[in-house]
Amino acid sequence: MVKVGVIGTGGMGSRHVRNLHRYTPAEVVAVMDLDRTRAEAAVNFIPGCAVYTDVGALIEDPQVEAVVIASPDSFHASTALRCIAAGKPTLCEKPLATTLEDARKVLDAEVAYGRRLLMLAFMREYDPAHRALKDAAERGDLGELLMMRGTHTGYADPHPRTTADVIVNSAIHDIHSARWLLQQEVEQVYVRRVVSDSARPETCRLLVTQLTFRNGSLGVLEMNTESGFGYQVDVELTGSLGAARTARASAPMMRLAGREFQTIDDDWLIRFDPAYILEVQAWVQSLMEGRPSGPSTWDGYAAMVVADACIKSSEAGVPQAVPELLRPSIYA
Ligand SMILES: NC(=O)c1ccc[n+]([C@@H]2O[C@H](COP(=O)([O-])OP(=O)(O)OC[C@H]3O[C@@H](n4cnc5c(N)ncnc54)[C@H](O)[C@@H]3O)[C@@H](O)[C@H]2O)c1
Repeated sequence: MVKVGVIGTGGMGSRHVRNLHRYTPAEVVAVMDLDRTRAEAAVNFIPGCAVYTDVGALIEDPQVEAVVIASPDSFHASTALRCIAAGKPTLCEKPLATTLEDARKVLDAEVAYGRRLLMLAFMREYDPAHRALKDAAERGDLGELLMMRGTHTGYADPHPRTTADVIVNSAIHDIHSARWLLQQEVEQVYVRRVVSDSARPETCRLLVTQLTFRNGSLGVLEMNTESGFGYQVDVELTGSLGAARTARASAPMMRLAGREFQTIDDDWLIRFDPAYILEVQAWVQSLMEGRPSGPSTWDGYAAMVVADACIKSSEAGVPQAVPELLRPSIYA
């Protein structure tokens, strides 16, 4: 039985608590949040679970064998560094960090530790619709992969977001998907965007990123933060023999009062609910077997290298080269 501590018990962290408790053999033995009431509420169905408001207290709790980091993005890197220093396997929410410099520090710390401790929560790898696409590509059904198209929509955003936040917090999923599905590193990015507040040029409502991969294949990623219709993620792969698109969610096709329609989920916790469950199941299985699996710190870092180039391209308004990366041997 693996004993897990969860850091950050908001929407995502409390979902991980639920999924670990209900769907895996792991035991949630501790949670931590700056807001004690939230932490207590997240584990009100787990008697005896320790509740902390200090991150070090959870990581150093000798009962805690493995950690989930689900605090806000800006705390991931510093918390991951503490988990690596304590030698505790960790499921770290995306992004690995909010700056490339901090992402590099986590990568260097894990390489110095000598083996993989972190799994990055790029949960699309566990989404059945994405998995089916990946399997078709790996079987060679599509021939040589030529292009990936991704569309990612949010329902609405209460406040205008900066372009950097849209890239590092949201489009990072699409960047990882592109690398994972095409099994290629990105050579160049070109970002165009529509601002959400014309008085604040740093804001972003809609982002289109063109990618060129090192083998010459292409990608187009569209991220619309305020679609007005719902949360949706679609991916299409074009190959030399054909194309494949992710199947849509399983909502029934309704026929009512002269209309035919399918409901669109309004947030990721609904759309990716099965993926979040499969993700923690895979993580716990890998802990029990003592072998790392899933997206790695390397994937988190490589996505941040691309994200950093995207931010630079959006600022300069021109294509931006992505530096070539040397993958450390622990991620072979
Ligand atoms: N993989 C995915 O699909 C996915 C989906 C949603 C969120 N996320 C990520 O999960 C993380 C949490 O997102 P959320 O939607 O749950 O946010 P949230 O705002 O709902 O919850 C964040 C929680 O963290 C707590 N917190 C704030 N500072 C903290 C600190 N220093 N240490 C510990 N806890 C702290 C807050 O009190 C709050 O309870 C973010 O990094 C986000 O990017 C990932």
